[in-house]
Parts: sequence; C-alpha cells; structure tokens
Amino acid sequence: KDDRISRISSSIRVIPDFPKPGIMFQDITTLLLDPKAFKDTIDLFVERYKDKNINVVAGVEARGFIFGPPIALAIGAKFVPMRKPKKLPGEVISEEYSLEYGTDKIEMHVGAVQPGERAVVVDDLIATGGTLTAAINLLERVGVEVVECACVIELPELKGRDRLGEKQLFVLVSST
Ligand code: PRP
Ligand code: MG
Repeated sequence: KDDRISRISSSIRVIPDFPKPGIMFQDITTLLLDPKAFKDTIDLFVERYKDKNINVVAGVEARGFIFGPPIALAIGAKFVPMRKPKKLPGEVISEEYSLEYGTDKIEMHVGAVQPGERAVVVDDLIATGGTLTAAINLLERVGVEVVECACVIELPELKGRDRLGEKQLFVLVSST
C-alpha cells in the first residue's frame, strides 16, 4: 500500500507561482499520465468505499469529474456532478462558498439524489475546505448522508480539515 502512495505522490507535479505568485500548484494531470498511479489512486478509494453501502459519488467540477466517475462505476454507485453556476440545464439547488476574494457557487440537479442516500464527495484536492463544505451542505440540505469526503491531496497548512468539522476526510497524499 505504501508503495502505491509513494508512486501517486511522486506522480503529482508541483508548479511554483501558479496561478499567482506564492502558490505551489499541485498538478494532478501528471498523475493521469501514469496509468499505474492513476489506477492505484482509484483502487485505493474503491477499496475504502466498496463495502460501505454508498449510493452516491458526488464530484465537484472540474477535477472531481476526473476521479469521481471511475470510483462510482467500480462500487456500483451513481455519479452526481456538482457544477459551477449556470451549467446544469434542469432545476438546481445551489450553495455559495467563500474564496480568498469574494464568493463562488456550486449547483446540483434537483432529483439527482434522494433523502436517506449515502454519499461520498470526491475532489482532487482540499485547500481551505470551502468547496467540500459547500458540497456537503448541498447534499445534506436534501437529506443525503455524507459519509466521507475523499481527496487525492491535502494541503494541511490551510486547515481545510478543521473547516469540515466532524465530517470525515480521507486523503492519499499530504503536501507539506
Ligand atoms: C480547486 C481544487 C478544489 C478546490 C480546493 O478547484 O480542484 O476543487 O480548488 O480549494 P478549497 O479547499 O480552498 O475550496 P478550483 O476551484 O481551482 O477549480 P477546478 O477544479 O475547476 O480547476
Ligand atoms: Mg476543483
């Protein structure tokens, strides 16, 4: 297992000063170029969630759309996209969240999930935790039980884990 984690970790490229000075960007596109690292990533999540009666894998646009669907397929859950505003054509519910400057929003189709269903929220990375918190709130507003959030990378210094409160967070790689 540790072998797999170190392969995943070393396949992630770090690009300094992107998108602005001082940010060390964690680029998962290089992980996707390594089929073994990509498969190990999905396998580790699938091993964790396959026997937990998960009905819903919710993925946050855009990078949650890369990791979420293969997990959903492997565990026999539905995939629910949580999109940036004004992208979904049907009736939506939305949740606003704060960024460093200003706010952003994610949206989910009404009827995509049912009260009592059990969900895992998937994204590539947790920084401040704002995005995942919004995703959790959306699902809980419609009566879904969010079992856990799952990310490839955590930036622990930004304390996103604390923002999630009691909610479980599962990450493969911690970036220091
Ligand atoms: C990045 C990343 C997470 C989010 C984490 O997405 O993919 O979704 O930021 O940040 P937070 O924990 O502080 O909320 P971004 O909004 O940059 O967009 P993208 O996934 O569409 O590239
Ligand atoms: Mg994102």
